[in-house]
Amino acid sequence: MKSFRDRNRDNRPHQPVKIRAEQARPRKTGGVARPEAKLDERREPKAAQRVLSRREGALPAEHLPLILEVAPNQDYALLDSGAGQKLEQYGPYRIVRPEGQAIWQRALPARDWDRADAIFTGDTDEEGIGRWRFPGTPLGETWPMKHDGIDYLGRFTSFRHVGVFPEQASHWDHMAGLIAAAKRPVKVLNLFGYTGLASLVAARAGAEVTHVDASRKAIGWARENQEMAGLGSKPIRWIVDDAVKFAEREERRGSRYDIILFDPPAYGRGPKGEVWQLFEDLPGLTDLCRAILTPKPLAVVLTAYSIRASFFAIHALMRDTFAGMGGKVESGELIIREKSAGRALSTSLFSRWVA
Ligand SMILES: C[S@@+](CC[C@H](N)C(=O)[O-])C[C@H]1O[C@@H](n2cnc3c(N)ncnc32)[C@H](O)[C@@H]1O
Repeated sequence: MKSFRDRNRDNRPHQPVKIRAEQARPRKTGGVARPEAKLDERREPKAAQRVLSRREGALPAEHLPLILEVAPNQDYALLDSGAGQKLEQYGPYRIVRPEGQAIWQRALPARDWDRADAIFTGDTDEEGIGRWRFPGTPLGETWPMKHDGIDYLGRFTSFRHVGVFPEQASHWDHMAGLIAAAKRPVKVLNLFGYTGLASLVAARAGAEVTHVDASRKAIGWARENQEMAGLGSKPIRWIVDDAVKFAEREERRGSRYDIILFDPPAYGRGPKGEVWQLFEDLPGLTDLCRAILTPKPLAVVLTAYSIRASFFAIHALMRDTFAGMGGKVESGELIIREKSAGRALSTSLFSRWVA
């Protein structure tokens, strides 16, 4: 499954025009992002790495495939796609980026594409490097955006990201509904939280939120977004940490959560160089997520992208993990519906356990 989503890279803030990729990236081989880390660099001690526990209880009910769709709206729209690119509207700006899956034709005429405010050019490979180009007026690094009434900043970052993954809005709405319906205090853990949109949505819905990301820069951006959204007084803990280490610590400390979101990259690093490799580390982290749930949990939501796997794989992982807990595991894809011709652009796989 391909998408352009990738871990937050070491981009330079406040660089007005050219933002270059500057780190070695995982190499892609046959569709799988291949990390360059050596085996002995991985999280220590490897021997004690958490594995998925064998659980005896009945498997949760299942619902699949479930396709969760983000439709064009006033804040964000996939305007058109085709010929290896996508044209999106992010607030005031029209942005063109490479899109490997868009092997079809563009539906809009060239004049619509020519009106783009920003174009990410470079290697069309999803792991490729490139730079932002502004055909008209040079733009600053950030610009005001909104999601469902929450103000935040869009950003031209390295590796073509713009500070938000709009397809995640399907999960945010679902989570906000669970928080509101619970009619009790709800604690949310957002692992691999990036610029914090999910955390802001959860906090606005009334939850107490813990947001964890390995990147100090991403946490800085998330805090800026909190201020921008006027949610500064809401209870959000912003934590720079390795997701696995943090979850292990929470287990030892007895900290528990009602909802856990985790959206791990195929490959990433914790702040102390801890190596995250999805296929190796996801089962253990999923197991940990179960271990740090409250006695009356609401949901655990996993998204995966840039990996060669089907949602059936993470579906089976989630059902095994939540055996004996009742509820339901729903799995499928997050897609964005294109405005011009109504085609679906798949962005990621997901699987969620819901009580
Ligand atoms: C694509 S983002 C997740 C997007 C986010 N869920 C959202 O919707 O905005 C992946 C994030 O994982 C973080 N990351 C990578 N490796 C990590 C690790 N070992 N521990 C914690 N965070 C990590 C990156 O810094 C990046 O912000």
